[in-house]
Amino acid sequence: MTKTVKDYIRSIVDFPHEGIIFRDVTTLFADARGFRMAVDQLLTPYTGMNIDKVVGLEARGFILGGAVAHQLSTGFVPIRKKGKLPGAVISEAYTLEYGEAVVEIHDDALKPGERVLIVDDLLATGGTAAAGITLCERLGAKVVGCAFVIDLPALGGRELLESLGHEVHALTS
Ligand code: PRP
Ligand code: ADE
Repeated sequence: MTKTVKDYIRSIVDFPHEGIIFRDVTTLFADARGFRMAVDQLLTPYTGMNIDKVVGLEARGFILGGAVAHQLSTGFVPIRKKGKLPGAVISEAYTLEYGEAVVEIHDDALKPGERVLIVDDLLATGGTAAAGITLCERLGAKVVGCAFVIDLPALGGRELLESLGHEVHALTS
């Protein structure tokens, strides 16, 4: 039978903390067919949508977002955890399924009016993506899509992003 994206993802129990079932996409990335399938499916809704920049969320969103940006012939912009970007940044704090964090973007990474596609491997509570959207919007960009390989709907991320007026594109749950 033909494998789907979900078939390439493994679950690691109790990582990084007891009670968390960690969805590990390294097995998806390591497989040539799986990785191509995931990247192609992530970008399909956005071809012809005049995306200016793909914004990838650290860390696995860099791998996916870089590949999507290459395919869409757009630039790529990283949103990183606090203290990692070398230039002047703006910051947003957020809560995670298992902790709290701050994310940052270079303050000149996006121009007002630019059309942005946000890419990450997984949507859980939506805290990371919502903080990423806020950073893009603070720079005046328009977030036209949010694409994830995995959506964990029980954690409320899709609901949160939709309540903020953003459509969620996810390949599997
Ligand atoms: C994971 C995942 C998303 C985020 C989703 O990253 O890759 O970025 O959590 O969770 P949320 O929807 O509840 O915000 P993580 O924070 O583990 O960082 P890492 O990719 O740098 O390991
Ligand atoms: N980020 C937040 N929750 C996660 C999970 N269950 N698996 C992988 N990354 C995550």
